[in-house]
Parts: sequence; C-alpha cells; structure tokens
Amino acid sequence: MSERWFRAPGRVNLIGDHTDYNEGFVLPLAIDLSCTVRARARADGIVHLRSLDLEGAVELAADGSTEPADVKAVWGRYAAGVLRTLAARGRPAAGMDAVVSSTIPLGAGLSSSAALSVSLALALNDAAGFELPLLDLARACQEAEQVALGVPVGIMDQLASLAGKRGHALLIDCRSLEVEPTPLPRELAILVVHTGVSRALVDSGYAERRQACETVAARLELRSLRDATPAQVADEPRARHVVSENARVLEAARALEAGDIAALGPLLTASHQSLRDDFEVSTHELDTLVLALLEAGAPGARLTGAGFGGCVLALASRDAAAAIVETATRRYRSRTGHEPQAFVFSAVDGAGAIPHAP
Ligand code: GLA
Repeated sequence: MSERWFRAPGRVNLIGDHTDYNEGFVLPLAIDLSCTVRARARADGIVHLRSLDLEGAVELAADGSTEPADVKAVWGRYAAGVLRTLAARGRPAAGMDAVVSSTIPLGAGLSSSAALSVSLALALNDAAGFELPLLDLARACQEAEQVALGVPVGIMDQLASLAGKRGHALLIDCRSLEVEPTPLPRELAILVVHTGVSRALVDSGYAERRQACETVAARLELRSLRDATPAQVADEPRARHVVSENARVLEAARALEAGDIAALGPLLTASHQSLRDDFEVSTHELDTLVLALLEAGAPGARLTGAGFGGCVLALASRDAAAAIVETATRRYRSRTGHEPQAFVFSAVDGAGAIPHAP
C-alpha cells in the first residue's frame, strides 16, 4: 500500500490565554514548525507507531479500545486518545503503520501535542477512508488530549493547527467556533523566545485554574465567564483576567485589521501583567524574559500559551527583530543562567496531506 504523508503545524497565540475554555476569544496563528506522520494502511486492525524523536514504539488497537493510561510512552497516550475519540465518531477500525517526527519543542507552549494529535487523526482517518468536518476533527483531537492526560484543555490549539491560514492570525470565537482570518502586516515579526524552562500541563495548575473560572461563572449564574461584565468580576482576580483578556483580544484584532502595530504592543504587555498578577500563571523566568525584551525595544511582550514555563512572544518590526533578540537573550541568560532559544515565525496554512519529500 502506498505511503501517505500528513503535516500539522504548531501554533503560537498572539493574545487571549485561558480564555478558550471560558468560551471567549483567542488570536493564534499556525507556525512553521510542525509534526509529520508518514503512514501506510494495514489490514489487521493494529496501529503501529514509531517516533523519530521520542522513545518507544507503540502498538494500539485500531478500534480505540486501548486504554490511553496503559500506554507507556506519553506520546503514545495521545495516539490512543485520538483512536478512541475517532472511533466514538464512527471511524472504522482500520490499521496503520506510521512514523512520526516533529520540529516543535516539547513543553514550550507551541502546541507540540495538538500537532501530534491532529496529524495522527488525519492519517488515521485517511487510512480508514473516513472523513470528519474540520470542527468535529478539532473537537475529537481536543477530547483526545483530555482523555490522554486527564487535563481539561480548551479547543484553541487543535483548531489553530487545523484552520491556520498563511500570512494570517485567526480570531476565534470559542463559543461559536467561528474562525476569522486576520492578515498580519508584512513588516511585523512574530518573535518567540523559549525561556529554556519547559512545563508539563499535567503538573501545572491548568485544571485548577479552569475550575476556579467555572466556579465563579456558576456563582454568577452565567453559562461561562464569556458573559461576565468587568463590574461582576472586579473582586475575582482569576475571572477578572478572563474578562479583561477577552476585551484585549478583540481590541488587538481590530488593531491588526487596521495595520495599527503601535496599538498592539501595550495590549500584549497588559495581557502579560494580567496573566502574571490576576491569573498567576507566570514564572520568574517568563517575567525576566518579558522585561528583557521590553528593555531591548520590543513594543510589547507576553507569556504565550498556558504559562508555568515555555515561551514569551514579542512584537518587533522586521528590521529591529535581530537586534532585540540579541540584546534580550544576552540579558536573560546573564540574569537567570538559562539558555533561551529564539524563533521568528511565519503564519502558515493549517494541517493536511502533503506531497512526499523528494
Ligand atoms: C493550553 C491549552 C489551550 C489553552 C491554553 C491557554 O495551550 O491547550 O486550550 O487553554 O493553554 O490559553
């Protein structure tokens, strides 16, 4: 049987963190780092996967009956989760042999796990001659991550990986799941710097934060914090972050549309302060890196993703980006002793089948 290749990009979130599971707004873009799956259908109801980057091959039942927690390799648990949630949506139990490889650093807040789940889901559906609409696929991959690790993640990462559009950020309404691509100005560099300190969602306070948000929404008798007003949450720091962040996302999307880069910087920095002080998901390293980037001349900087480690995102004009990175990473290194890693990302198209490499 012929080999088929699938690619799913990671994502970076321009602004709007910890808003997706509150049915709020996010503004991510799919990035030019990705997970690739090279797959061949097989006839015996077994899914055999090998990773080029991570240890251990995994063998799973194609009908989704393998319990994710029973899989030794953590990356294999995501695969078991994907098989389970696709089976629940009617995917026939077709087998597959596949090799997985990824260029996305793990635990960096760049959605290496969503890219893995999405690329595997595309390959598995293809091997079974099965199709799902994009939103159902995103939901299946979101649920897969929830069953794989028991962390109640939102839908931003999977949807961004699937719906990415070259040259665009995506304004996503996480209630209606409407995705509105917004062009990124050409002169804008999307600068991302890894603190060198990874985080694991499992042992981070992610679930605790989500619970805190839901508790406030229930007390206010609201379906979600999406519907809360600033006055209603004035004395609730966690909820206050969500409400103020939603407003910042919408403002940032308007600024992008108008090509008003100057207006974006302060919104990003305000987002960081809110994630640090109200939502309390920042770390010493993230704060130090944000400060170093601002000192070096970035108009705005913030932690991006779940927090608790991982990456900082900063804006810069393309001309200034290299000098800002140079100064900021030097200062960060000398202040923390950690080795930062810098990227300048382009926004790419969402996941899909790709031609074989030559
Ligand atoms: C992780 C989750 C997302 C989202 C972000 C925080 O990346 O997977 O659903 O909640 O954290 O914005």
